[in-house]
Parts: sequence; structure tokens; C-alpha cells
Amino acid sequence: MLTGSAAMQEKTVPSFASIWSGFHKKALRERQNQLRLVYPTLFPSAPSQQTTQSAHSNTESDADSLLTRAGGSAASLVGLNVDVVEWSEDFPVTGLDEKVADNMIENCIGTMGLPVGLALNFVINGTPTVIPMVVEEPSVVAAVSGAAKTISTFGGGFTATTSERNIIFAQVVIMDVADVNAAAEAIRGRRQEVIDIANSFVPNMLARGGGVVEVTVRVQPRVSATNRPRKPREVNVVGGGDSDSWLVVHLHLDVCDAMGANAASTVSEGVAPFLSQWVGGRIGLRIVSNLCVERLAKATFRMPLAKMAYKSFTGRQVASRMIEAVEWANDDPFRASTHNKGIMNGVDAVAVATGQDWRAIEAAAHAWAAGCGQETDKAFYKPLTHYWVEADEGVELVDGSDEGLYFCGEMEMPISVGTKGGVLKTNPVYTYTLGMMGNPDSKGLARAMISVGLAQNFAALRALTTEGIQKGHMSLHARNIAIAAGAPAHAINECVAYMVESGRVNQTIAKEYLLAHEIHTTLVTQDTLSDPKNAPRAPSTFYIEATLPDASESLTLNIAFETLGDKPIHLLLSSNTQPSDLCKALFNSRFDHTWIMSTLSILDKIELSTIQPGRSNRILVKKLKLLSVLLNMLVRSMVSQWPSETRRLVDRIVNLAVRSGRVDASALHGKARALSVVNGIHSRTASTGSVKEAALQAGRPLLLAMWQVFELRVLQWVGHAPLAATLLETQLEILKALTEDLSGAGAGALKHNSSPLSKSFSNPEESSGSDDEPLMMKSAMSKKQDPDQMVRTLFHLIEKHSRRFQTSLFLLCDASSHDQNLLTAPRLQLLKSVGDLMAWEQMCAHDVSTARLARDLASLLYYSVRADGPHVEMELDFVSKDGNGFVFWLLNTVGEAGIRGIVTDELERSSTSTAVLEWLKDSTQEDGISGKRDLEVAFRSINLHSLFRTHILEYIQIVSKERDIVKVIDESGMEIFNKDTLLLVTRLYRQYYDVLEFF
Ligand code: MEV
Repeated sequence: MLTGSAAMQEKTVPSFASIWSGFHKKALRERQNQLRLVYPTLFPSAPSQQTTQSAHSNTESDADSLLTRAGGSAASLVGLNVDVVEWSEDFPVTGLDEKVADNMIENCIGTMGLPVGLALNFVINGTPTVIPMVVEEPSVVAAVSGAAKTISTFGGGFTATTSERNIIFAQVVIMDVADVNAAAEAIRGRRQEVIDIANSFVPNMLARGGGVVEVTVRVQPRVSATNRPRKPREVNVVGGGDSDSWLVVHLHLDVCDAMGANAASTVSEGVAPFLSQWVGGRIGLRIVSNLCVERLAKATFRMPLAKMAYKSFTGRQVASRMIEAVEWANDDPFRASTHNKGIMNGVDAVAVATGQDWRAIEAAAHAWAAGCGQETDKAFYKPLTHYWVEADEGVELVDGSDEGLYFCGEMEMPISVGTKGGVLKTNPVYTYTLGMMGNPDSKGLARAMISVGLAQNFAALRALTTEGIQKGHMSLHARNIAIAAGAPAHAINECVAYMVESGRVNQTIAKEYLLAHEIHTTLVTQDTLSDPKNAPRAPSTFYIEATLPDASESLTLNIAFETLGDKPIHLLLSSNTQPSDLCKALFNSRFDHTWIMSTLSILDKIELSTIQPGRSNRILVKKLKLLSVLLNMLVRSMVSQWPSETRRLVDRIVNLAVRSGRVDASALHGKARALSVVNGIHSRTASTGSVKEAALQAGRPLLLAMWQVFELRVLQWVGHAPLAATLLETQLEILKALTEDLSGAGAGALKHNSSPLSKSFSNPEESSGSDDEPLMMKSAMSKKQDPDQMVRTLFHLIEKHSRRFQTSLFLLCDASSHDQNLLTAPRLQLLKSVGDLMAWEQMCAHDVSTARLARDLASLLYYSVRADGPHVEMELDFVSKDGNGFVFWLLNTVGEAGIRGIVTDELERSSTSTAVLEWLKDSTQEDGISGKRDLEVAFRSINLHSLFRTHILEYIQIVSKERDIVKVIDESGMEIFNKDTLLLVTRLYRQYYDVLEFF
């Protein structure tokens, strides 16, 4: 709640809501429709279907309508229903007719277009003004509209003035005059005669109240021929080159509402013969001067300093930085040039939109910036704007307070424009652009231009001194890119948002996004169970960039998925970007980009055969593999955080796949349930705002989308139906295996668990049946397994956990790029078996690696004494998620006490942390260590491989499958598969886990 002055302030801030509010968010057609409603006389076409209360009932003239509506309240458009009216005719602000163009210039070959935009929020001298701009550069229109909004809201808008008369100079230079000063005096003496002669050439202008009003004669110093820099072999052919002055006559011509260049030329050409005759000289050049220093326009504004606050910067900070920026430009012409270029972005754009000679305006602006034609000669080129902070009269300044302080801006420059004559009649578009401005006279137009120039500079400096302009520029640049990439109208904004947010703005990224979007839309529409009333919103995206060591190009995946929040989220995994908190929460910090890359680079070494697949095929295969790695990684991460939710979702994915008939139910032992996956996800995604909650909210639809994209890609890319079905089944098997052990996140659920560990560890006779029943691990500690049963359980455990290595899936992916005629059903089966065996080997190598051993033995010993009470779930984690075949084997052969004794002795020998030793000897001393991590660190310091060498060798003897792999390959005669490569992969794994010597 606001109190006191804050509340007052809140109330007195003028609202700048107008009928133009939200204009930038509308589609092009909607904007055009709005213009037809706001300017019914200017755009008088009829809607094809009359809608309720259309603007056509409005009898106001456009001029009235302008005044009341341009700044009127948003309410004035209520009922006009801008978005639904459909006009039958094309909007007339469009390209120039070729025939007209052909008459305008020589050698015409066609026309080309530029965008016409509207600068909004301008209030000039109290009048709301809409200003058309034609410019190819993105962000200019947005920038000036943004600045104008600030200035209009807090400063009441711009105050703009122009010189009283629209005077320009017609120049005549008279050459070869014997005495320049005397000649000058002679002409000055015939002032009225000159004016009268001059005006006889522009009778209409004179009749309109204009014409030549003054004559000045300038004796301009001339650098003599001998002092001028010359080319090495230059020959002087200039007569009178020795004269030290120019005799220049200026005819001050009031051009009324015309730009006036033509009239000036007419006048100067008409007067010149008289002048030359009077002074006995030769006629030199006779032409207009574009440095129209008597045709100035000036804009100013004044707004409370505090209201200059922008982004995270205070008003005072913004103001001081902007002033500093102008100070720099004042002292450095290199900066001043850019400063003024920005200003001309605005001024020129209005000039082009309204049919003005923008080169003339440019020329005048830069000559003026260089101080020409002004009394105080500048040392060099200067910025055209000035800013300062001033105090209200009589205000007592309080240190550090902004109260009574105002930020002021000013810009002045010559502007020569016309609203009568010239090309204005030739091109019909100017009727509309000037019409939308309320048909200003030339001074009004100059006032608008100078205000736009000042607004542009305000916007540029405000952005440059705070967040930089790239961000804003990026969005607009991204828009062009999105359009060029073929984004349909409805997807442009989201494509832009995606590129900008992910910091990658280029056509490839745009195309990837659009593809992901298209796939997403296809999937959403295909999902007959999702509610058709729910129009798909801008999807969230997941993007990954992977460069495999031997790949010349990077592999990218872009997956669109639906999230419930207002704003789509964009997740990015790449080597050069820090993952967001959400990404980390979702993927688990373990599964970072490096992890994925190292996994992929090993798996990438699986090359099935000597038949070389095509390059594009290889990329598709790698993409499939990457998708599968990501899918599995996400499931593993999610299942460790949200076991029941993840399991439910995976169950649904399996059921959906079975229902679709694409995979064989019996292959997956799945039970079909008629539940919509999408609805299932969405109904439970109420947000509580935490990162973890957000991760779950994003994780479920992402997981679903990953599966859907995987499925779609398999169906699209794998032309061999049995192989496609086997691939999908294999992927689903992996998902099931990864989630199965965590079916219940609590001890109670374990009772009904069919996991191999629960079968082996739990003792039905001892089971109390209560939900608080201590875990099976505890009973396993005290009770050894029957050896056969133990080996069976061990095998079951390894088989299940080995699925995470997804080797079968990789082999099948590879197979998709080979000669499909060779992929008979038995060969596919064979490939799958070889893959399973290889995964098994990989699992065993992984389990006996020292890092894994240190971690899992630490878990085992730590939780063995803490298996009840609040630690139950942690123990469950160890047993199920981190299940380690070798530790299981060790526990059943040496026993927990044995393991504890062996490591304790070794730690004693290596004199490690006494706290760990004491805890190992007497675990009731709970304060001794801070957690299992301390144990793990201690275990890493001893040589676990030599300590458990015998047991590891025994274990490897029992579980190693390489013999089986060789047997399967040999017996089946794998003519198309490369046996050596397959075996090499299992060896690579052993090398990777540093356990080569055990196998
Ligand atoms: C870009 O077209 C214009 C700016 O460079 C102007 C400036 O630097 O003030 C942003």
C-alpha cells in the first residue's frame, strides 16, 4: 500500500495510455485496421463485414479526429473492435506505381520499398502527434517512441519552435571583379532593386506572402592560387585565380511552405546577369545554399530529474551519464559524428516518409554541427544536442535530493522542408503520411522532425549509458532474421524472443527454432487427447549444442515444449554458456554439458560396419543418439528428485506408445491406460515459485517432448519399420529401467517393490509390514544371501542398471544408416543382444572404478548405521539409485563388518583423518564426521583397487561378458557388423574407468 507522498505521486503521474497503446504488439493488418478507424477520411474504404459500432458512424473530420484521438484515452477505441474488422481493399500506404516512378527519374527500371512505421507518444507544443518514419534500420522507431513516451509522460512533451520565416539563401557568385569590395558596396547600394528584380521571377511566391526579403553581399576570403595545395603535375587553368576574395550575393528568399530549392535557383539565375553587369564581372555559380541558417528548428523538453530513472539506474545517474556523453562528443568529433548520425536516423526517417530532400537536411545539419554560419565559430564538429540539469526557480537545493531538479534537453539545427509542391503530389503515399500528421505546414513538419531528432538522441544516449543498445537492437535485428528465416506471422515474436534470450541471433538458430516449433505444433495437434480449445501458446525450448571431437560441425538440437507459465522458458546447454539455475535444477549438476560430451564422444566411437554411411545420414544418427542421451539423462536426474512423478510420467509415455501401436506391448510388459499424457502433466503443475518447483514444472513437459521428438524422428528418419519399432522399444526399456527402482519414494513402497535388491535383502519372516519398516539393507547386513540367489540378484541388478549405457540403442541407431536390406529380424535381435552384453560390461567397469567405489563404499558404511529414522530415504537412494553390483557382491562375500575392517586398517596405515577413523571404529560417535562425503574423501586417498583386488578379480570372473559377446558375434557370422569395433568399445570403457587390468 502506498502512503503519504508516495501515494500522491502515484496519483499525479499522468498516464500516457492512448488509443495507440499496444500498437507495437499488433499484427500489421491490425495496425492498418486501426488506422482506418482513426483516420476514416484519409483511409475511407469500407469494411467487408460491418462490425458493431464501427468507426464509420463517426462524423468527425480527420483533423478533429486527430486531436481528440491521437492522444485520447484508450477508451475511445472501445467498441471499435480493431482486431476483428476485415477490410476488403488493400491498405494504400504501399509502394510507388512503376509508371509514376518512370516519370520521376531517368533510366528508371523499377521501384523498391522501405518500411513505413509510426513514431508514437509525441506531444509537441501540447498537441499529440503521430509521426510517420521510413527507415530500414531496426529499433529507430521503437527508440524514438520510447523516448517520446518518457518525455511526454513526465515532461509534458516537447516544446518546438522554428524561425519566424522560412528563409533560404539563393547564392550568386560573381567572378573576375576588379575590386571586390567596391563591387560589394555597389550591390548593397542597389538592395531594393535586387529584391524587386528577384521577386519578378517568383510572382506566385510573392503573392503568397513570400519572396526575396533581403540581400546580403559577402566578401569571402579566397585562398590564392599559389597557396592552394596542388597535385604534383597540376597546371593552373583557373582565370582570376590570384584574387583573394569571392564576391557572393545572398538573396534571402522566404519560400512559404515550399522547400524552396527550385525557387532559389530560379531567383539566383534571374538576378545574376544584372549583378554581373552592374559590377563588371563574370557570372559564376547560381544555386541555393543548403546551409539555411535562417530556417532553424529547435526542440526542448524539461522533466523532473527523478523521472529519468531507467532500468536499474536512478534518474540522477542516467542524467549525469547522458550529460557526460554529450561532453565527450563535444570534445571528440569521432564521437560527435556518431552522435549526430543517430539524430539523423530520426530526422531523415521523417523526411523520407514525408517526401523531403533528406540530403539537403543532412548537409545543413552537418555544416551547422561544424559551426558554419554561426557567430561563435566552433573549433570543430560538435554534437547537435545539449542536456543539462536545472533547478526550479527559488528551490533550495538539498544535497543528494532530486526534488526541484529538472533534466532538460535541447536541439537546434537548420531544417528546410516543404509541404507544398515538389514531389509531394507525385507519390500518393505522402498524402497519407502527411495526413496522419494532420497535414502540417512546413514549420509544423520541421517541429516534428526536430522533436524526433531530439527523442532519438535521448533514447540512444539513455540506452548507451545504461544497458547498451545491443539488447534493443538485437530484438529488432532478430525480427528481420526471423522473417528472413521464413517465420510465419504468428511465430515471429516467439522466434525473436527465443533468439534474443538465448543470445544467438542468426538464421540457423531461427530456422532451428521454427523447426522445433513446427514439430511441437504437429505433436500438439496430433495429440487428440489434448484440449483443442487450448490454442498452443509460444512454446518453451530446450537447446543443446554439441561438438564431437572428430566432427567438423556442431550438432544441435532444439526442442519446443509447452509450459504453463505466462512466459516461455528457454533452456540452453552449450560449452560456452553457464547453465541457468533452472537448467541445473532440472538436469542435476552432474549431468552438465561436459558430461554429455564425454559420454557422446565415447559412444560415438561405436562404428558398426565397414559400409560407410553418407554424411547427412551420420548427422541424423548422431542427433538420434544425442536425443536419447538427453532423454535418459533427464529421466535419471528427474527420478532422483521426483521419483513418483517421474515414474508416473514414464509409465504414461510407455502406455501411450503402446496404444499408438508403434511398439509391441509384450516387448515392454506395459499395460495400456487411457490417460492423456499432456493432460496428466498439466493438471498437476501448480507453481509455488521455487526453482525446484519450476524445474519439475518444466521437466515433465520437456521429458514428454523429448520422447515425442525422439519417436517422431525415429519414424521419420528410420525407413525400416522393424528397426524403427526396435529402436522405440529399446528406448522405452531404458526409460523403464531407469525409473523402476525408484517406484516408491519411501520405505513403505519398498515392501511391494519388485526390485532385485528388495527381493534379495528383505526377509519376509522378519518383516513387520509397517510403513516404518527398516530397510532391506539393514537385514542384508546381518544375513548373508544364498550364493545362487545372490548371483541371480546380482545379475538382475547389473542388467537393470546397465541399461543406462544405452549401447543397444546406439548400435540400432547406427544400423539405421546402413544398408537396410541387410537388417533382417534375426540380425536386429542379434544386434540388440550384443548391445546388451556390451552395456553389461560397461556397467561392471563403471562399478569398479575407484571413484565409484569410494563413493558407494562410503554410502554403504555410512547408511549401514543410519538405516532407520529420518535417514531411511537416503539409504533407499543408495540401494536403488546408486546400486553398485560390485559393492553388492562385496557386501555378500565380505560382509559390512569385513569391508569396514579392511578400509579401517588401510586408513590407519595411511594415517588419514582421525575423525573418520574414529567414526569407522565407533559409528555411534555421530559428531565425528560431517557426513558420508568425509568418508568418501578418506576412501579416495587409499588404493581401493589393491585393497579389494582379489574380490574385484573374482567379481569380474563371474560377471564379465566379453566371452559372450565374442561368442554371439562369432556364431552369428556378423557379415555386416565390425566385430573388432564392437570389442574395442568395451575396452574403451574399461580404459575410461581406469579398470583395464581387471578384465
Ligand atoms: C545507430 O544508428 C545510432 C547510434 O550509434 C547513435 C549514437 O551512438 O548516439 C546509436
